[in-house]
Amino acid sequence: MIDLKNVTFSYDNKLIIKNLSLSIKRGDKIGIMGESGCGKSTLLRLLAGLYRADSGTVTLDGETEPEKISRKVSVVMQSPMLLPLSIYENITMGHKYPDSHVEKAVKMARLSGWIEILPDGLNTYLGDRADELSGGQAQRIAIARAICKDSEVLLLDEPASALDSENSRSVLEAIMDYAADKTVVHVTHQAQHLEGYTRIYTLKDGELKG
Ligand SMILES: Nc1ncnc2c1ncn2[C@@H]1O[C@H](COP(=O)(O)OP(=O)(O)OP(=O)(O)O)[C@@H](O)[C@H]1O
Ligand SMILES: [Mg+2]
Repeated sequence: MIDLKNVTFSYDNKLIIKNLSLSIKRGDKIGIMGESGCGKSTLLRLLAGLYRADSGTVTLDGETEPEKISRKVSVVMQSPMLLPLSIYENITMGHKYPDSHVEKAVKMARLSGWIEILPDGLNTYLGDRADELSGGQAQRIAIARAICKDSEVLLLDEPASALDSENSRSVLEAIMDYAADKTVVHVTHQAQHLEGYTRIYTLKDGELKG
């Protein structure tokens, strides 16, 4: 369902992804590891339709237009982007979901405890509070956002890097329960987060090694 064929991508003249090909079937759980700066986040952005390949193609269920691909995937980026809106709006991103759907996402992202103690709960305006958020809170809002979007494909870039090991384990377990039937591509430096995955690759010199 996801097919990368001879994908090449550079920033200016710096070649990051080199003639890379990869086939991912529906339901596969793919782990990607590799040294800092090797291009993992860049590769995930190409998969997410956030970047266009210089050459080669990224196809998701027959779709090759990056903008259309981006609508069909849920992404948790390495540094989550929060908007000056409420927590609720940051999670739902303008979509109308049943309350139960949002609540489920909040629970899976292990946000319930924190939101319960906020006077305005989910309606808390983040504009004034964005600086006060911990990295872990921001990350969990991004996870709730991705779960709410509920795409067939879930792309994760170090989704729990700002969480302590206990919270990280708990959130990752919840994500994997949720994503049991989904296609997952998970970038991480921590091999133990990829237990039970279909395949684990290392990105090196712009290429994936099995
Ligand atoms: N927007 C950009 N413009 C120019 N160069 C960039 C840009 N983003 C990343 N790079 C460079 O491209 C290379 C790959 O970056 P990338 O963020 O994909 O690495 P990474 O494997 O995700 O690293 P990390 O494990 O530290 O997150 C790095 O050398 C980085 O400095
Ligand atoms: Mg990265």
